[in-house]
Amino acid sequence: MRTLNVALGERAYPILIGPGLLDRAAGVTNALVAPRLAIVSNTTVAPLYFEKLAGPLRQAGVGITAIVLPDGESHKNWETLNLIFDALLKERCDRTTTIVALGGGVVGDLAGFAAASYQRGVPFIQVPTTLLAQVDSSVGGKTGINHPRGKNMVGAFWQPKLVLADTDTLGTLPARELSAGLAEVIKYGLIRDLPFLEWLEANMAELMARDAAALSYAIERSCANKAEVVAGDERETAKDGGRALLNLGHTFGHAIETGLGYGQWLHGEAVAAGTVMAAELSRRLGWLTQSDVARVRDLLARAGLPVSGPKLGADRYLDLMGHDKKVIAGKLRLVLLQQIGTAVTCGDAAATDIRAAIEDCCA
Ligand code: NAD
Ligand code: GLY
Repeated sequence: MRTLNVALGERAYPILIGPGLLDRAAGVTNALVAPRLAIVSNTTVAPLYFEKLAGPLRQAGVGITAIVLPDGESHKNWETLNLIFDALLKERCDRTTTIVALGGGVVGDLAGFAAASYQRGVPFIQVPTTLLAQVDSSVGGKTGINHPRGKNMVGAFWQPKLVLADTDTLGTLPARELSAGLAEVIKYGLIRDLPFLEWLEANMAELMARDAAALSYAIERSCANKAEVVAGDERETAKDGGRALLNLGHTFGHAIETGLGYGQWLHGEAVAAGTVMAAELSRRLGWLTQSDVARVRDLLARAGLPVSGPKLGADRYLDLMGHDKKVIAGKLRLVLLQQIGTAVTCGDAAATDIRAAIEDCCA
């Protein structure tokens, strides 16, 4: 097992990464919180892993409330959030109850938002079971739900007390979901860790074959990158750079997710196509070469990801991108690549270039 730390002062917490951690959760969580947990999961993950996590905890004397949500991005909304509140209230969960998210990023974002707001805030633990959640969404405290007009538009920052990433759970992950997680892994290499990007280029075949050592290394290195960025800019308030850089490809990608309807494209797939758009725009600004863009496209394609977006029309993309959380006073800020391995925020790309980059990258 490897332990990383998210250095956030009094809100600091460990990320535990390794095989067999679900069975050992009792030993870790007992020291942290009162012996009452509400475990939030979904109809796909609960049959696979709920008892593995809950059984030993129950035996250790922990009271457990099970909250099983419908599965899918299309359920990341008010209605599903309310199912969590209904269950917490029905079971008379009090302020000492810890909410545990057992699942992918959708469960994590929903359960985290519930933890941030139930009785004005209760402790929270992330037990991520997708690659995407293990490398990204479980770390850093962003929680929330989608609005029909925009992705992740309602939410809160609420840091977990602990992240427990059991790498054995990746054994049951569908191939398409594994690829979606790799989009966020590649992101770290592109924005701030060139040696990691080179390692990914050399080891993509092993990752796609689910080689345990390669996956563990990729998770660890991704979490180390994320922890460092979050520790430096917890609430994404830095004027330049900072946490916003973790959103490479996301402004384009969120437009794809919202434009097609949540759940049509996976988040990671939309981020992958969005990353190619960001790279193409960076080329138009003179920062990347044609071969740099091909390098980005090639790595994403080798990870089984789409490298062009759906034809929504550039106007629709631009309209949807106007709802992005990085829009300040009506001005769109995009995360672009100054060079491979270095991202920047850019608030003055010409609309004609943005439009051309989108059109170039739509199938
Ligand atoms: P997801 O939560 O929808 O999970 C993907 C699918 O895999 C689901 O069907 C799920 O039930 C299933 N699944 C989960 N674990 C499994 C396992 N071990 N075996 C078999 N099936 C399993 O999707 P995701 O990719 O994990 O997360 C995407 C979400 O995360 C998006 O809503 C995105 O906005 C959000 N996100 C949040 C942050 C953040 O910082 N909070 C960062 C990145 C993404
Ligand atoms: N996934 C982007 C962030 O956590 O800031």
